[in-house]
Amino acid sequence: MTMTAPAPDHNSDASRISDEKILVLDFGSQYAQLIARRVREQNVYCEIVRHDISVERIAAHNPRGIILSGGPSSVYEEGAPQCDPGIFAMGIPVLGICYGMQLICQAFGGQVKNTSQREYGHAKISISPNEDLFGGLPSETDVWMSHGDQVTNVTESFEPLASTSTCPIAAMRHKELPLYAMQFHPEVTHTPLGFQILRNFVISVCDCEGLWKLHDFAQQTIAEIRERVGDNRVICGLSGGVDSAVVAALLYQAIGPQLSCILVDNGLLRKQEAESVIAEFTKHFKTDLHVVDAKDQFLKELAGITEPQEKRRRIGYQFVECFKAEALKIKDAKFLAQGTLYPDVIESGAALDGPAATIKLHHNVGGLPKELGFELIEPLRDLFKDEVRKLGLELGLPEDLVWRHPFPGPGLAVRCLSDITEEKLSVLREADSIVVSEIKAAGLYRQTSQAFAVLLPVQSVGVMGDARTYENAVAVRCVNTDDFMTATWSYLPYEVLARISTRIINEVKGVNRVCYDISTKPPATIEWE
Ligand code: XMP
Repeated sequence: MTMTAPAPDHNSDASRISDEKILVLDFGSQYAQLIARRVREQNVYCEIVRHDISVERIAAHNPRGIILSGGPSSVYEEGAPQCDPGIFAMGIPVLGICYGMQLICQAFGGQVKNTSQREYGHAKISISPNEDLFGGLPSETDVWMSHGDQVTNVTESFEPLASTSTCPIAAMRHKELPLYAMQFHPEVTHTPLGFQILRNFVISVCDCEGLWKLHDFAQQTIAEIRERVGDNRVICGLSGGVDSAVVAALLYQAIGPQLSCILVDNGLLRKQEAESVIAEFTKHFKTDLHVVDAKDQFLKELAGITEPQEKRRRIGYQFVECFKAEALKIKDAKFLAQGTLYPDVIESGAALDGPAATIKLHHNVGGLPKELGFELIEPLRDLFKDEVRKLGLELGLPEDLVWRHPFPGPGLAVRCLSDITEEKLSVLREADSIVVSEIKAAGLYRQTSQAFAVLLPVQSVGVMGDARTYENAVAVRCVNTDDFMTATWSYLPYEVLARISTRIINEVKGVNRVCYDISTKPPATIEWE
């Protein structure tokens, strides 16, 4: 078998779904997908395309509007990503965000400078009265800034629309053409009225009605899978999480018995997890399931390894090896389906145009080599977690599966800090199961995005009965997030924290101290490794 992973066809002439489409030109921003998602939340179909897409290709998409994303470069740098300047004359509304604003400014002869006033974080903008982009907004509102350069001067054809104390032109509009721009990021939740601003652009400025639904995405994806797969067999990796379940459900509806699923039990799963995945799978899907017991293999490979990226690399490698071995037993398989989501893609620095920095090595992207021998099917590659959940419900998956907290591919290995042993894993499993069950018992599981325990490589002194103890510390991590790109720690009631702590210390042998992790992302990440 030879194998190449097809690049996502972001330039396809697609527009089967809806006549209303917004294009996002990606200049390497971590937020490009977030912009797309915010647009889709207005029920308007949105696609991300390369920043250097030609005017002709744009015309073929027939978009109602174009958004230029932010990006890490400076417009005046050599080799800075540009767009075809012809797009400004197409008569299609354009919104430039951050770097996108600076590009528009530069294209029309204005000035962009690296000021000493680098802005990162919250800022307050004052808005001049206007009815389109900022329609319905108060005269002052909070926004999220993240820039070193800023527009310092615009030509007479532009009218400033908003300012902050350090950024005199925080938003602007062309006086005749439908061109708008803002220095801040309306797509992030830290800009509380950003949703309204994007809605104004999409609905009022671009004149979209908002008719696109996730249902259409499901139906279209199912049809595409059916056509691409033909009579062949597809292998789907199953993890127990919502992502792979949704992929399996899409495939099941598309090709039914031509689907074979593989669950690799790597010994890094939660308490009772493999058993419950198998039970649920057999209940909902009447198709081929292979369970690979690879616990010993993984533990052996991880023995003595302390460095987080090395752990991920080894787990990724082992995963591929186990998968390959099992997959080879499945006759006529041509495709491999994966539940890769956009955050996995972008945080591994693998996005189409994304010079986005590699933060963590996500094994489902970084570890699966192209020469694996199958063509990849990644139907969720452009979606965020909450869109996947909605899609799961749309496909009829049960609520408790759809709302299950995400669990990382490398599993407990990245929550058992330093080196991994079976003893440590079993301590962690018990502590983790208490955290989750108490959060559920308090009715907080749906209100939190992820809750788990982390076993720290730290012993501390305690006293139990009359005896001195010198045992492990466990950290409890519980976060709230919409998109897993940013997160805040959950304000759990003290009583819940108290119950978790008491139960872990009383019931889990080898733990005498529990801490609550009160770090936000950024700068911390959700997982500890
Ligand atoms: P971080 O720790 O980067 O996590 O803030 C963001 C989200 O991604 C999950 N995560 C992973 N998921 N493979 C995955 O499939 C991985 O290697 C991985 N690392 C982190 C994490 O649990 C959180 O939901």
